[in-house]
Amino acid sequence: MLQRFLIGSAVLLILIASQIFWARQMRKWGASLIPSATWRRRAGMAGLLAYLLLLSYNLLPSLLGVVFNRISVIAGARSAAPTHGALHATLLQSHLWAWIRGVPSPEPIHLTFRAALLQAPFWSWIICSLAGFLIAIPLGLADRIARAARWVYQRVAQVGRAVPLPNPVSLARRRFLERTALAMTTAPFVAGAYGMFYERLNLEISHRRIKIPRLPGAFEGFRIAQLSDIHIGPFMPAEEIRRYVAIANGLKPDLVALTGDFVTWDPSTQSAVVDVLAGIKAPFGVYGCLGNHEMWAAVEDSITRLFARRDVRILRGERALIRSGGEAINLLGVDYQSRSPMGPRGQRLVREYLQGVDRLMVPGTANILLSHNPNTFDRAAEYGIDLSLAGHTHGGQMTLEFVHPDLSPSRLITPYVRGWFEKPGGQLYVNRGIGTIFVPIRFGAPPEITVYELVRS
Ligand SMILES: [Fe+2]
Repeated sequence: MLQRFLIGSAVLLILIASQIFWARQMRKWGASLIPSATWRRRAGMAGLLAYLLLLSYNLLPSLLGVVFNRISVIAGARSAAPTHGALHATLLQSHLWAWIRGVPSPEPIHLTFRAALLQAPFWSWIICSLAGFLIAIPLGLADRIARAARWVYQRVAQVGRAVPLPNPVSLARRRFLERTALAMTTAPFVAGAYGMFYERLNLEISHRRIKIPRLPGAFEGFRIAQLSDIHIGPFMPAEEIRRYVAIANGLKPDLVALTGDFVTWDPSTQSAVVDVLAGIKAPFGVYGCLGNHEMWAAVEDSITRLFARRDVRILRGERALIRSGGEAINLLGVDYQSRSPMGPRGQRLVREYLQGVDRLMVPGTANILLSHNPNTFDRAAEYGIDLSLAGHTHGGQMTLEFVHPDLSPSRLITPYVRGWFEKPGGQLYVNRGIGTIFVPIRFGAPPEITVYELVRS
């Protein structure tokens, strides 16, 4: 509890510091770009007004909600652990309009002006300005150290000289350094725009050949397509998902695996996402498992029923034998499970992953597990589950993993961020998913559909 509080406070302080940093930066740019003091003041006021408007629209209701929630917990009117419904209401009332009306506004499944003009710019600004500030800190420190070293050097070199020494840093060099620092601190905004308008929509189809020595001969070359983390919402509208469904069908897989997070926050979006995904067809069927967002939106039972009516089978601690030519492979599926609290306390916390899944396994054939959380892999490999298919991380969503593997936010929750992993007993593939959460930006983690070809050797 204390640890969470300290981390939260540190993040908040850094966030506030970053906003002050950028306000000062804007003022500096204003001074050099707008010569008239009156117009500078007017532009400053307009900018501040727009900022406060977006801030209050996106954050004020949430902050008030947290304060009221705390007060009611302290007063004993409510239990400290929020229910599914309370969480959902808080998230959907996190915009001023919903808060004023006093009812959660349904999450749109088409891009709306509100989402495009009020939500996306604000959250993108927060993420990009924070990243820019984090780059500016070491640059600023390096500059201060260099200045101090120069000052000391000049003082020492000056001893015994009557004429002052010239400044060792030329004006041109100083300007070059300033411009380089400016380019580096503003780079996150360019990256954010690229991630929102290009990379987020730039689907990659990955092909992976998976060797499973126990694979029955009839399944040699069997092809499974995996789609994950759809997250229907204003930035993943139904028509966009329809495009991915058409792509998946065009790949002509034998079987399709959907590994959870169909909705984002709102239960009312479940029928829409099921309707679209029901368009996926494969001769050996479409199977799936549920993600943490189905759990948070409290739609696990209902979405499973909706899928079942459209011939998509969600495996919830179940198995399905896929038969061909008198032989079979075993497909298993589990609900989201976690060993560390994520979201409301105590939900789906397990002391040990995949308890009881060994009873669903079929010896002597390939066992393939659909599990949203890749952290179940260690246990799956201990059981000897040949292949685990997971999602959940979005490949980091916004990551510098191409610079260094540790530079990914998903490293905080799992060592299995993306791609293929192997250890004695099993293999894992973590799909980067299709949708996004919080910010409609993908950077260094383009959306992905994976096609696996199963082979014996
Ligand atoms: Fe997700």
